[in-house]
Amino acid sequence: VVTKALKKQMIIPDWERFVGDMGEIFEDVRGFNEGELATYIPQLSRVPPDSWAMSVCTIDGQRKSWGDSLNPFCLQSVSKPFTYALVHDDIGPEALHAHVGQEPSGRLFNDISLDHNKKPHNPLINAGAIVVASLLKNKTPLADRFDFMIHACRKFVGSGYIGFNNSVFLSERETADRNYALSYYMREHNVFPKDLNLQDTLDLYFQICSIETNCDSLAVMAATLANGGVNPMNGERVVNNRACRDTLSLMYSCGMYDWSGQFAFHVGLPAKSGVSGDMIIVIPNVMGIALYSPRLDKLGNTVRGVKFAEQLVQKYNFHNY
Ligand code: DON
Repeated sequence: VVTKALKKQMIIPDWERFVGDMGEIFEDVRGFNEGELATYIPQLSRVPPDSWAMSVCTIDGQRKSWGDSLNPFCLQSVSKPFTYALVHDDIGPEALHAHVGQEPSGRLFNDISLDHNKKPHNPLINAGAIVVASLLKNKTPLADRFDFMIHACRKFVGSGYIGFNNSVFLSERETADRNYALSYYMREHNVFPKDLNLQDTLDLYFQICSIETNCDSLAVMAATLANGGVNPMNGERVVNNRACRDTLSLMYSCGMYDWSGQFAFHVGLPAKSGVSGDMIIVIPNVMGIALYSPRLDKLGNTVRGVKFAEQLVQKYNFHNY
């Protein structure tokens, strides 16, 4: 790496300048302090509302963080692409997509609806993610499934931070009427694999949403997706190439909920947001970016995260097209 850096052969040759530009956008975006915290999970509404953090990690392992980048938060829906990638890696795309589609839903993330095949539209809305959770190592006891997931998250972050927030898990489970309704509706339509224990599946889904990390570590998770499924910090393969590619395709078309089309149009990069206010952006073969600011817009996306993405592509030509 040192030789590469000296020869200016790193993926971002002028790192100093890039870091300066990113820092400027970061400070600029701090001014967008509108938006509300998610209140439907009480614990999520009790975090400091004005936290703002950003981290980048390139596929060469160049890293930089700004703001509250070591503050912990729950992955929430940012877990969805990672769960998808892991199940894809484990059982393959055919078996997985026998239960869930690939189309943007054009609806809110927790909408009770299925596509014309009576499957959830895609793995990145709640319905689809609950089904993907039902496929995760589902022949093993619930404790083993959770272990598998948290160990996999540790592989995605390398030496970074992964924890579990039990109060968010309990709070979410208490207030999950919509996800229960969605799941019963899906069971009625035989979406799940046979012999499913619905409560176990939902518990696993809530537990995955309550896995905790920080911006600094989340950037490495995003960079692993940018790097074809190989963690750039330790060279360990976490998921296969095809699983990684399919994950990015879905993030591109469905990652920002009902704003995905506009995000693809204006920003042109795969991304995923969660109701805790976290967000990842993947620039394939270049870097992963993690953002955290808990104030959300009406669709559930972090206000500052979206503003940052827009300003990023104005400054750097990262848009895919
Ligand atoms: O299922 C839920 O309601 C949440 N635990 C996850 C939702 C989420 O992060 C959606 N994000 N915008």
